[in-house]
Amino acid sequence: MSTVGVLGGTGPAGRGVAIRLASAGYDVILGSRDATRAEETASTLLARGEGVIRGATNDVAADCEIIIVATPFESAVATVKELKSKLAGKIVISMVNALVREGKELIPLYPPRGSMAAQLAFALPDSTIVGAFHHLPASEMENLDSGLDADVVIFSDDVAARDRVATMVAEMPGLRAIVAGSMSLASAIEAFTAVCISINIRYKAHSYVKLAGLRD
Ligand SMILES: NC(=O)c1ccc[n+]([C@@H]2O[C@H](COP(=O)([O-])OP(=O)(O)OC[C@H]3O[C@@H](n4cnc5c(N)ncnc54)[C@H](OP(=O)(O)O)[C@@H]3O)[C@@H](O)[C@H]2O)c1
Repeated sequence: MSTVGVLGGTGPAGRGVAIRLASAGYDVILGSRDATRAEETASTLLARGEGVIRGATNDVAADCEIIIVATPFESAVATVKELKSKLAGKIVISMVNALVREGKELIPLYPPRGSMAAQLAFALPDSTIVGAFHHLPASEMENLDSGLDADVVIFSDDVAARDRVATMVAEMPGLRAIVAGSMSLASAIEAFTAVCISINIRYKAHSYVKLAGLRD
């Protein structure tokens, strides 16, 4: 099974993905700018599978076979650029959304290349970028008893990479993998997160995407 490194893994998004990956049997390294913070955070995450979650620096996390970027959007490009040579030849999954809060709504921002996934692809020309996990509420992900039954919408220009990520997602408890298509869908998929979070603010909920009408 592949090892998975999560850059910015100490935040709610990284923790939620890590705990479900470990519950599917993956060994995960939670990356951080501060190894001690990562070790402390990792020790609080109780996965229910064969996988082990360890904490380390982002640099160590980047040694894993598959990498997930889970930093705030403002720091995502700078974080991966520092690790460019380690990330070369690997699948790098972006779950990064560029959003700003205005009152009770989240507003999507459009980065110069249209999406954060495209920004990361430009910063990492020797890596394969796949988008996934954008719409998942972190609190529901981290709580393995939340009853989560969510779809993960996946996109990439690399068919083999997006299929590999889809296989991994399908193994994670509570998640179904849906391959949407190519990188051209990235800005729409990322921006839709603003809709999801705005709905959750309005309804004081932790709803998530589950598409109807698909055959399992
Ligand atoms: N929260 C969600 O429900 C959710 C769901 C889906 C997708 N996302 C996306 O996932 C990403 C992370 O979300 P989050 O809520 O977990 O964010 P967060 O808590 O604000 O940040 C995650 C981690 O990023 C690191 N970080 C913060 N500022 C940084 C900087 N200037 N440079 C480098 N690293 C920095 C921090 O780790 P260290 O201090 O340990 O380095 C922090 O714990 C975002 O892009 C978000 O849009 C979030």
